[in-house]
Amino acid sequence: MPALEYDTLSLTDAVIGRLAECQDPRFKAVMTSLIKHLHQFARDVDLKAPEWFAAIEFLTACGKACDDKRQEFILLSDTLGLSMLVVALEHARALQGRQGATPPTDATVQGPFYWEGAPDVALGSDIAQGIPGEPALYSGRVTDLEGKPLEGALLDVWSGDGEGVYDMQRADGGMRARARIRTDHEGRYWFWSIRPTFYPVPDDGPVGVMLRKMGRHPNRPGHIHMKVSAPGHHMVTTHLFVKDSPYLDSDAVFGVRDSLVVDFEKCAPGVAMDGTKQDKPYHVAHYDFRLIPEGA
Ligand code: BEZ
Ligand code: FE
Repeated sequence: MPALEYDTLSLTDAVIGRLAECQDPRFKAVMTSLIKHLHQFARDVDLKAPEWFAAIEFLTACGKACDDKRQEFILLSDTLGLSMLVVALEHARALQGRQGATPPTDATVQGPFYWEGAPDVALGSDIAQGIPGEPALYSGRVTDLEGKPLEGALLDVWSGDGEGVYDMQRADGGMRARARIRTDHEGRYWFWSIRPTFYPVPDDGPVGVMLRKMGRHPNRPGHIHMKVSAPGHHMVTTHLFVKDSPYLDSDAVFGVRDSLVVDFEKCAPGVAMDGTKQDKPYHVAHYDFRLIPEGA
């Protein structure tokens, strides 16, 4: 007769054994590993019953904090570095077999403030629409890995304002500092917005409690988000980080990549590179995006 009871080690194999009839090989592999690591974690820390219950209460609170605007579990994943790990694994997969080639633009986390359906605007538009912040001219090119310009590539852009607040977080709720912009025949893009500043991830919920208990701050360095895509190429979801921003070395969600840190050069009032007359000081940020061809 098989054993009816298990000890602290044999229990793990018994639980994994119950997957014997599972028909989905990938799900079976993922669940087997999850059970193995979860059990080993409990043994490693010699998990106490009250601690286990506190964890259940914490996850319950995360669930209760979620609604159609807030996703506390993604925030949990972000602040534990899991989201960035998944981004890095995806990126490495897309790069397989391309070692030694010119590197593509690095990906980073999407975050919770993406809003589908931003307006399509012409090259050179000011997407800031009066939000607080110092003006910044963003420009560069979108190319493939050989440097060939990609005409009609789409930049879907969003950022917080110069006070570290996203439009979604303001009471009036209208879209601001968001746009979809397409590159010209030479793969060039340029548009005006503001230089974004650092801000805290939403920390008024259970994840905020966890961060404080860990002795961590909730801040992200100043950045602008972009989803850059072109037919026949992998889309990259990324940011450009402001070079002299606080928290570059301690981003609460581990999203910083050296290659994405950009100089926001300060310029005196005058005629800017795009020929517009600026009566206030402004910044210029230049970045060329490189996309990975599909199926290469
Ligand atoms: C953001 O950059 O918008 C963000 C990313 C992860 C968590 C919270 C905010
Ligand atoms: Fe952000």
